[in-house]
Amino acid sequence: MRGKSVLLIIGGGIAAYKSLDLIRRLAERGVKTRAILTRAGAEFVTPLSVAALTGEKVYSDLFSLTDESEMGHIELSRSADLVVVAPATADLMGKLAGGLASDLASTTLLATDKRILMAPAMNVRMWQSPSVRRSAETLARDGVLFVGPNEGEMACGEFGPGRMAEPLEIVAAVEQAFKVRGGPLDGFKALVTAGPTQEPLDPVRFIANRSSGKQGYAIADALAAAGADTVLVSGPVDIAAPSHVRLVKVTTARDMLAACEAELPADIAVMSAAVADWRPDIAADSKIKKDADHRIPALRLVENPDILATLGHHKKRPRLLVGFAAETDDVLAHAVAKQKRKNADWIVANDVSANGSGESVMGGERNQVHLITATAQESWPDMKKAEVARRLVQHITQHFRETSS
Ligand SMILES: Cc1cc2nc3c(=O)[nH]c(=O)nc-3n(C[C@H](O)[C@H](O)[C@H](O)COP(=O)(O)O)c2cc1C
Repeated sequence: MRGKSVLLIIGGGIAAYKSLDLIRRLAERGVKTRAILTRAGAEFVTPLSVAALTGEKVYSDLFSLTDESEMGHIELSRSADLVVVAPATADLMGKLAGGLASDLASTTLLATDKRILMAPAMNVRMWQSPSVRRSAETLARDGVLFVGPNEGEMACGEFGPGRMAEPLEIVAAVEQAFKVRGGPLDGFKALVTAGPTQEPLDPVRFIANRSSGKQGYAIADALAAAGADTVLVSGPVDIAAPSHVRLVKVTTARDMLAACEAELPADIAVMSAAVADWRPDIAADSKIKKDADHRIPALRLVENPDILATLGHHKKRPRLLVGFAAETDDVLAHAVAKQKRKNADWIVANDVSANGSGESVMGGERNQVHLITATAQESWPDMKKAEVARRLVQHITQHFRETSS
């Protein structure tokens, strides 16, 4: 990242003090920073500190004639390789999600032709509020990258997600954002599914499974790191999205299928979600109550759509369709049958029964898989899920190298 430049927008939050350290950390790695300090940001750190650390004039005012003559706001928005917002306040996120340009920071964010990386920081309840959720989802859909927020104790004394990522984590995300360009999958679109689906029975109950989403998230991360424009369609999980991946959150299998179809065409699709095969035939509008006679309600299930098979037979079928087979017995035979039945190119098969140490693949950190392609079967040793992801992406890269030469 040496020689690159960042336009850092410092919003008005307590975490603004960490952005001073961020400037130093970027400078240590040869990255030049120019900063915009919002009016609220200047309540937390002084323009003098920011100017001293960046070695540059600090910009704050949209209507400053001197700034406009020296460097107009449009030029400022184009002046760096990446725009980083840290701390990204609820206010700045809401303005960009809503298309507002009411000050220098928000105007610059709207006008930039560069990627934007946001490091949100705010009170837990602010972060969890429906409107900030909406802003975050809209921004992620629009291709804004995120790092954090982390979970922990907040300056306000509350606990939960909302702490700004640490400066070194932001540096890693900046590095990742720079790396993406020029990777072997640059110009490819990748679609990944991850996590379980939840199939409602009534407003408070659902059928789900133990999938944590870790393997799919690691694959999305690895594909994006290789340069693919990556969208991750995820069922409900507790892990943060990789910073350079567009996240689409869904709940049911039917939502997941609709979200996947909306993302076609795609060059690569890796279907690692543990999609529920069945759902209750009726999802009651209100909570199903015990009745006075203690009669137990019968649960009738109907079949969910098969996402892998639907994509396998789709008129916009991805060029490389990879399915996951989670089996508890006769893993390879079942996986090969699935490959044929669903018209998938490759299957990654894993045994999801508990291993010798009692740790289940579902929810665990490690995985032991078999890769079944059109021409070969490979059994990989037990390894971390991130390593499985990296190897799989190497195979995908190799596949496209061979088929395009
Ligand atoms: C002491 C204090 C701390 C604040 N911390 C945050 C914060 O961490 N995150 C946030 O989104 N807003 C925070 N706010 C509110 C913002 O400063 C306020 O919304 C402001 O308008 C944001 O302006 P900006 O987005 O242009 O920087 C805080 C306000 C005060 C008074």
